[in-house]
Amino acid sequence: MMKKSSLSLFIAALILVASTAFAGKMATVDIPEKPEMYATAPAALTPQQCAQCHTGAFNGLKNAGGKHRFDCQGCHTVIHAYNPKKANYDEVMPKCASCHTDIHGPTAKDCASCHSNPHTPRKVAMTPRLAGACATCHAAEKAELVKFPSKHTNVSCDRCHTSHGYKPSCFMCHRPHYKDQPVEACAKCHSVHKPKMVTYQGTDWNQTCASCHGKIAEKLRKTASRHNKVACASCHKSKHGYIPQCTECHKAPHPKTILDRFPNCLGCHLDVHDLPSMK
Ligand code: HEC
Ligand code: HEC
Ligand code: HEC
Ligand code: HEC
Ligand code: HEC
Ligand code: HEC
Ligand code: HEC
Ligand code: HEC
Ligand code: HEC
Ligand code: HEC
Ligand code: HEC
Ligand code: HEC
Repeated sequence: MMKKSSLSLFIAALILVASTAFAGKMATVDIPEKPEMYATAPAALTPQQCAQCHTGAFNGLKNAGGKHRFDCQGCHTVIHAYNPKKANYDEVMPKCASCHTDIHGPTAKDCASCHSNPHTPRKVAMTPRLAGACATCHAAEKAELVKFPSKHTNVSCDRCHTSHGYKPSCFMCHRPHYKDQPVEACAKCHSVHKPKMVTYQGTDWNQTCASCHGKIAEKLRKTASRHNKVACASCHKSKHGYIPQCTECHKAPHPKTILDRFPNCLGCHLDVHDLPSMK
């Protein structure tokens, strides 16, 4: 059994050993210093390096970034500074206004409500916000629809333009005038924002005319008169509903004295689509 005095001497010696050991070492582990690692400032991360973690932003820019395909940090001058305790998200995000003016005028200052993703700036989704704003930027189309009233005037822009920039086919909503009429023909007579103002060039339209004016077409086809070789659009030229003067083609068919007395050609020739024989 150890004496009380020799026990306290033993503890004192232990404390001495321990304290001299701590005085010589600041850490309980050994990690060598590498000051050369800190000699130069780091190079800025490239977009490829950011993309190792932020694939979404990178791929957005890669596929549909357009003119926004420059350095991430061209916009993100501050990064990794968001702190939920400070609720500073909006503060650390880039601002459109630091590089752009109110490009579309004072009624479209809320950029992000249409350009919802700055990494795909030209992708503008068809939202109620956009659908209500077409005329802000396309005043001419709106004005045309109003100036030439038709049933299209009351069709909302986004019912035809279902996504921004999309131009619909007439066949999405209409059938052709006759079977096999090609869709390319429609625009040769109809301008979509004033569809009732039908105009056309050339003469090769009998089949279309016949789809509505079947009786006249049939009469003209059967007539013995040489008008059966004349196309509808040769007489009814350029504009739907145009009625020609006979003298546009027949300069001076009879002596002036007769025509002065009987100015109405059809008074004698009766039916232009089925001229009776005058012999
Ligand atoms: C033209 C400016 C611009 C460029 C270039 C840009 N960003 Fe952004 N970025 C923004 C804006 C503005 C926001 C804020 C969007 C919001 O408020 O939702 C944002 C948000 C972010 C966010 C947070 C929201 C999210 O989508 O997760 C990340 C991450 C991000 N950007 C990464 C990048 C990376 C990586 C690059 C480069 C590959 C990059 N950005 C290039 C403007 C830009
Ligand atoms: C090693 C992975 C990694 C790299 C590299 C990286 N980030 Fe981040 N970043 C994160 C993480 C994690 C968050 C927080 C979670 C989140 O928002 O996705 C974040 C958040 C962000 C945010 C939103 C929050 C904030 O505080 O800004 C932006 C913007 C951002 N990073 C941009 C960048 C840009 C630009 C680069 C390149 C210069 C980059 N990051 C490089 C991992 C990374
Ligand atoms: C750091 C500057 C910067 C910031 C911030 C910025 N942009 Fe841009 N943006 C540009 C530049 C530069 C162009 C190209 C301009 C040119 O070529 O005339 C551009 C072009 C665009 C384009 C046309 C893209 C194309 O490919 O034609 C849109 C749309 C756009 N920006 C919207 C925005 C919106 C919305 C924001 C805010 C969310 C924003 N930008 C933030 C610099 C910026
Ligand atoms: C009501 C919706 C809307 C709002 C709000 C809006 N934009 Fe746009 N912006 C568009 C549409 C749609 C386009 C055409 C996109 C395309 O080319 O298909 C466009 C195009 C652009 C272009 C390219 C212009 C060009 O002539 O090629 C820039 C730059 C732009 N917007 C910046 C902004 C900025 C900055 C703001 C905020 C001040 C903003 N936009 C607000 C819908 C909007
Ligand atoms: C903030 C302005 C803005 C708004 C709002 C806007 N557009 Fe546009 N739109 C543009 C710009 C800019 C272009 C590209 C012009 C170009 O490429 O010549 C464009 C292009 C188009 C095109 C294609 C033009 C072509 O010749 O190919 C159509 C169609 C169109 N817009 C319809 C609409 C409709 C419909 C709406 C409403 C739902 C709308 N836009 C709202 C600015 C706008
Ligand atoms: C009944 C369907 C329809 C409606 C309604 C309609 N559009 Fe169009 N729009 C079209 C078609 C089809 C084209 C393509 C015309 C072409 O290529 O000749 C077009 C073309 C356009 C273009 C491209 C320029 C051009 O004239 O080719 C713009 C811009 C446009 N429309 C805007 C509008 C706006 C704004 C509205 C509403 C005020 C609207 N449209 C209503 C069908 C429609
Ligand atoms: C999104 C559907 C839609 C598209 C696409 C569309 N229209 Fe229409 N159009 C209508 C509706 C709806 C009416 C009204 C029909 C009714 O009341 O019977 C109409 C009516 C018309 C009328 C008669 C106008 C009037 O006032 O009597 C013409 C002509 C017409 N469309 C031509 C066209 C042509 C040509 C195209 C292609 C360039 C086209 N439409 C594309 C929906 C459409
Ligand atoms: C040769 C000219 C011409 C061509 C080509 C043409 N149309 Fe028409 N369309 C007309 C005329 C004329 C009307 C009658 C206008 C009126 O009643 O004032 C009309 C009327 C319409 C109407 C109104 C409804 C009706 O039947 O009265 C629609 C819809 C229409 N066209 C769609 C089309 C489509 C779709 C095409 C393409 C496949 C097309 N049109 C090609 C001349 C043409
Ligand atoms: C979709 C049906 C339709 C088509 C296709 C059509 N028309 Fe008509 N057309 C009408 C209707 C309906 C009227 C009478 C109402 C009106 O004046 O708009 C009419 C009236 C006319 C008139 C008489 C105008 C007046 O002042 O009395 C002429 C001439 C005419 N059409 C010629 C043509 C010719 C030529 C074509 C082919 C290029 C054609 N139409 C194609 C439906 C059509
Ligand atoms: C677009 C030109 C054009 C118009 C307009 C026109 N015609 Fe003709 N007409 C002709 C042609 C072509 C012939 C055949 C001449 C030939 O073969 O030498 C013809 C022949 C005739 C003939 C000879 C009889 C026959 O059977 O060949 C008479 C009569 C005639 N037209 C009367 C009229 C009258 C009346 C009008 C007005 C109501 C009229 N035409 C309008 C082009 C036209
Ligand atoms: C030789 C010239 C000529 C040709 C060819 C011709 N028309 Fe006419 N058409 C006229 C003239 C002139 C009138 C006016 C007659 C009147 O005042 O009674 C007219 C009147 C009409 C009318 C309105 C009056 C009515 O009778 O309903 C329609 C519709 C019409 N033409 C359709 C056609 C169609 C469809 C064709 C082709 C199948 C055609 N026309 C070929 C000269 C022509
Ligand atoms: C008073 C009745 C009368 C009037 C009015 C009249 N015609 Fe005639 N027209 C005739 C008779 C009868 C013939 C047939 C006899 C002949 O061959 O000379 C004829 C023949 C024609 C011929 C055929 C000539 C040929 O060489 O084959 C043409 C073309 C013609 N008329 C056009 C017109 C035009 C255009 C008008 C109006 C400017 C018109 N006519 C007014 C009675 C008339």
